[in-house]
Amino acid sequence: MSKQQAILLVDDDKAFRVLTSGLLEEQGYRVVAAANAAAGLALIKEQPFDLVLTDLVMQGTNGIQLLEQIKAFDPKMTIIMITGFASIPSAVEAMKIGAFDYLSKPCSNDELLLKIKKALANKRNLEELDRLRTELSERYQFSQIIGKSPAMQSVFSIIDMVAGSDASILLSGETGSGKELVARAIHYNSPRQSHPFIAINCAALPETLLESELFGHEKGAFSGAIRQKPGRFELANSGTLFLDEIGDIPLSTQVKLLRVLQEKTFERIGGTQSISSDMRLISATNKNLDQEIQAGRFRNDLYFRLNVMPIHLPALRERKEDIPLLAQHFMKISATKNSKSVDSISEAAMKMLVEYNWPGNVRELENVIERAVLFCRNATIDVSHLSFHEQRPEMQLLTNARSSRMTEKEMTQLYARTILNEHNGNKKLACKTLGINFKTLQKRLGEL
Ligand SMILES: Nc1ncnc2c1ncn2[C@@H]1O[C@H](COP(=O)(O)OP(=O)(O)OP(=O)(O)O)[C@@H](O)[C@H]1O
Ligand SMILES: [Mg+2]
Repeated sequence: MSKQQAILLVDDDKAFRVLTSGLLEEQGYRVVAAANAAAGLALIKEQPFDLVLTDLVMQGTNGIQLLEQIKAFDPKMTIIMITGFASIPSAVEAMKIGAFDYLSKPCSNDELLLKIKKALANKRNLEELDRLRTELSERYQFSQIIGKSPAMQSVFSIIDMVAGSDASILLSGETGSGKELVARAIHYNSPRQSHPFIAINCAALPETLLESELFGHEKGAFSGAIRQKPGRFELANSGTLFLDEIGDIPLSTQVKLLRVLQEKTFERIGGTQSISSDMRLISATNKNLDQEIQAGRFRNDLYFRLNVMPIHLPALRERKEDIPLLAQHFMKISATKNSKSVDSISEAAMKMLVEYNWPGNVRELENVIERAVLFCRNATIDVSHLSFHEQRPEMQLLTNARSSRMTEKEMTQLYARTILNEHNGNKKLACKTLGINFKTLQKRLGEL
């Protein structure tokens, strides 16, 4: 037995209200009648209806105005207009604004009932479609990772498969393809989820700093080390350690890393006590490690330790079918974040998005859409809102630092600056994060 459907009848003709209510109730509908538009609108705001039947010509607010008010409140409401024979052009106008159908008075009972049935069936279909759409988009989503392409679907199954284990994972893929997102998804779907996820960008740090970040240091280990500082290995205990840009680790650090992975213990720099940490390792790189090994820049034995379970994230241009889904996703997020009422992307703009080759992958798409939302003054993103020029933030510079010809001193300075910026210029906090004293920070910043 399906639930009783509710119809709101708005008409200033009392005889029509009484007769029609009676007819509809006989058919099993629940009917609420209102004698004018204002009363009708008030009812709509306080209880749910499946259908509204409203007269077109009424004292005060007429049917067209009521239609607009209802649509403003609930764009999905199904409405049938009732008109006198003379006002058919207005009825057509009503349909343009969003009425589902119209009926001219006088009409037979059969005609009235048929139109109501048709309207209600249409409403059910639309609801079903909506439900399917939501279900579909949820299925294509894995902890906020979006993708319906076969390539991404298989990434989802691998994540599913490995999340429960402790196997070391090596993520590969171009910049912006979602490696960190996947690393987090694995952690937050694993039994370690309530423990820390600790990330470190290996490319951003000069060798000595990288080691002190990874293994920590004891007080006095080097000049300026004012306190003991735990390394990321320690901080990640019971959780997951994410080594980003692993392809950029210098060979000497690779040896030390290998030792930790083999023996599962390590010492802080300047320390003798051996520390063990139980953590799950996920590494990522946008380099081709095979090539790095060939070139003698990456150790084969370390590679095998890290790469128990490889996951490759395909470039966005290799899975163009994901672009519309991702574009819509980022549009919704940006619109909400910036309180804009942008809710669609024109066909021409979408075509352009799909055809572009996305060297910066999903991150670039995210930025292009965010800018488009900001530029857009109406509800639809169009070609004129799209611009494909990437700016390189400071972090990007850091990421590329090792591959560039920066000296160790310049990198140390850049790193200190970045940490300082992260703390909004608060040097005390920056010292704490870096585990160094004020004077050393000043030295690194080039202020002394
Ligand atoms: N499939 C996806 N669905 C939704 N958002 C995504 C997807 N892939 C990437 N993103 C988003 O794109 C941005 C870049 O992703 P992420 O930082 O994971 O890339 P990356 O591969 O680590 O890049 P890099 O090599 O430059 O560090 C992030 O904001 C991330 O949330
Ligand atoms: Mg990354």
